[in-house]
Amino acid sequence: MEGWKWIKVAILLCLLPFTTARDLKFNLMQKQQLPRYNHTLATIMVEYASAVYMSDLIGLFTWTCSRCNGLTKGFEMIDLIVDVQHCLQAFVGVASDLNAVVIAFRGTQENSLQNWIEDLFWKQLDLNYPGMDDAMVHHGFYTAYHNTSLRPVILSAIQEVNELYGDMQIMVTGHSMGGAMAAFCGLDLTVNFGYQNVQVMTFGQPRIGNAAFASYYSQFVPNTIRVTHDHDIVPHLPPYYYFFAKKTYHHFPREVWLYNIMYGNLVFKTEKVCDGSGEDPTCSRSVSGNSIADHLVYYGVEMGCDDESDNSCKIVMDARVAASATQDQLGNFIFTKNSSFSTLKMNGERVHLVDSS
Ligand SMILES: *[C@@H]1O[C@H](CO)[C@@H](O)[C@H](O)[C@H]1NC(C)=O
Ligand SMILES: *[C@@H]1O[C@H](CO)[C@@H](O)[C@H](O)[C@H]1NC(C)=O
Ligand SMILES: *[C@@H]1O[C@H](CO)[C@@H](O)[C@H](O)[C@H]1NC(C)=O
Repeated sequence: MEGWKWIKVAILLCLLPFTTARDLKFNLMQKQQLPRYNHTLATIMVEYASAVYMSDLIGLFTWTCSRCNGLTKGFEMIDLIVDVQHCLQAFVGVASDLNAVVIAFRGTQENSLQNWIEDLFWKQLDLNYPGMDDAMVHHGFYTAYHNTSLRPVILSAIQEVNELYGDMQIMVTGHSMGGAMAAFCGLDLTVNFGYQNVQVMTFGQPRIGNAAFASYYSQFVPNTIRVTHDHDIVPHLPPYYYFFAKKTYHHFPREVWLYNIMYGNLVFKTEKVCDGSGEDPTCSRSVSGNSIADHLVYYGVEMGCDDESDNSCKIVMDARVAASATQDQLGNFIFTKNSSFSTLKMNGERVHLVDSS
């Protein structure tokens, strides 16, 4: 019996160098590919993702809104786009302290948040991501970015900034549905326009594609952080069916999970940088996603609409915006900075802002 033990040990010793070497190599590869999480940067980006929800357009456009005065002071707005038709909102501007172009997308405002979340359970993987074998995504999320008035304005704004300032870092952010759009935008800028310096940070984002998509995504936009908060329900949706690996939704990496540890009545806020799989079972997935309240606060910053009573696509009109806004045929508004930047015009003409309701 003694002899057998030694043989086992010998076999283990033989195997050990191989396995550890391989694991190490694997880990190194993962480390190279995955971004370093920067807490300070996250607390700045979350304020952009929060501000883009503002319905007070003039306050947002002039960066004087109630959510515009924290760590984002000095932000220079270039374009604010309000897609009235699809009830979407996004902006592009320059954060000189970050030496970056910041692009932010608003989450859904069309239905009540509750309804939107209920619908998430049933979203199908119903679109082949163009040019990527086996990569499936949800058509609705994809088209919200790719097939609305937002994309062309964002693209030309980035081009303008690059012409004026040279190549800057591009930081794309959004909360909830806005996070899904931010991810599609980051991927688009990288794959279709060759931008190398794209960084994506999303908050409380739903799943948007399958495992093949997640794998492509993380190769093209490795500099991505997907922040989740405690029991926030949205990152759990559409559901992940681990027994159905090829057909199920699958998050891309890298998740950073914010959660609370309780010792008696002491609460410790904790951040966990998760593994490179996208579906780390020890992060958000280790708890049940049963909270909408956790969806609406990230890093202590209020996310979601500023006007809770309002479930519709609300636009606050102000006479002062007339000079800055253009409106396209479909009734969408584009607010363009009118200084060193050339004015972007939809359909080649400038029209006065009118209440579209
Ligand atoms: C984290 O981000 C902040 C803000 O952009 C930056 O000032 C700081 O140098 C970064 N820290 C690291 C370790 O990269
Ligand atoms: C984009 O929108 C147009 C017009 O609304 C529509 O015909 C087209 O099928 C849409 N494309 C996708 C990929 O949904
Ligand atoms: C925009 O620029 C033009 C020409 O530079 C100027 O005449 C106009 O008053 C400006 N409008 C605003 C709102 O600043």
